[in-house]
Amino acid sequence: MPSRLRQVRLGKRHEASVHVCVAALVITGLLWLLFHFFVVVQGEFGEQQHPLEAWWLRLHGFAGMGALLLFGSLMPLHIRNAWQHGANRWSGGVLVVLMGVLTLSAYGLYYAGGEETRAWISTFHWIAGCVLGLSLPVHVLQRRRNRRRTAVDRSQPLAPAPADELRLVRGRRDMPQA
Ligand code: HEM
Ligand code: HEM
Repeated sequence: MPSRLRQVRLGKRHEASVHVCVAALVITGLLWLLFHFFVVVQGEFGEQQHPLEAWWLRLHGFAGMGALLLFGSLMPLHIRNAWQHGANRWSGGVLVVLMGVLTLSAYGLYYAGGEETRAWISTFHWIAGCVLGLSLPVHVLQRRRNRRRTAVDRSQPLAPAPADELRLVRGRRDMPQA
């Protein structure tokens, strides 16, 4: 396997962190939607939001910060090398665009003025979020195809190593005497 493609591979913990973080984002986002639109409780002064609704957003914001951190950690080796190698460009590119869109719309959720604009940004944000949740597994499943493409064909007998390489492997004894 070309060494650049090997550098694309994530360690087990790194990969697990990406999955946990994206899952946390999607789950807390969907829970917020569920509680915001379908769950109301009777308070002292009539209907009010369920106390958990605010908690889903707190956890969501926390996961969002983790996602940005992880995204940064993927840039120098994973994304850069895979892009140069031309592997998984489509699905990876979609993920990068979605991360950009989600980050900008998250900023908009905090700072865009006006109720109506915020409502639009909110809808845009969670739809992009759901697409991210679906795109990551597609991206990861593509690695199988990649690995098949770059795997050594073990059904073929090993070709004899060129004379130069053998000399290097055997070491000093075969070095030409000065
Ligand atoms: C937000 C951006 C991205 C995320 C969260 C992400 C995440 C992942 C994860 C979790 C894996 C599985 C772990 C592994 O196989 O080592 C993976 C594999 C892979 N990704 Fe990405 N990726 C992103 C962007 C990209 C981009 C932009 C490209 C290409 C231009 C790319 C190319 C690849 C390739 C080639 C593999 C398979 C590596 C292998 O054979 O193991 N990724 N990605
Ligand atoms: C890079 C990834 C993401 C980041 C950085 C991010 C960040 C944020 C931030 C900062 C907020 C505002 C929190 C607040 O008002 O206290 C928010 C709200 C929200 N996010 Fe995300 N998010 C991301 C991905 C997702 C995903 C994957 C979903 C999936 C469903 C999602 C769904 C939501 C929802 C439903 C809201 C509430 C919208 C509202 O207040 O009207 N987000 N997000």
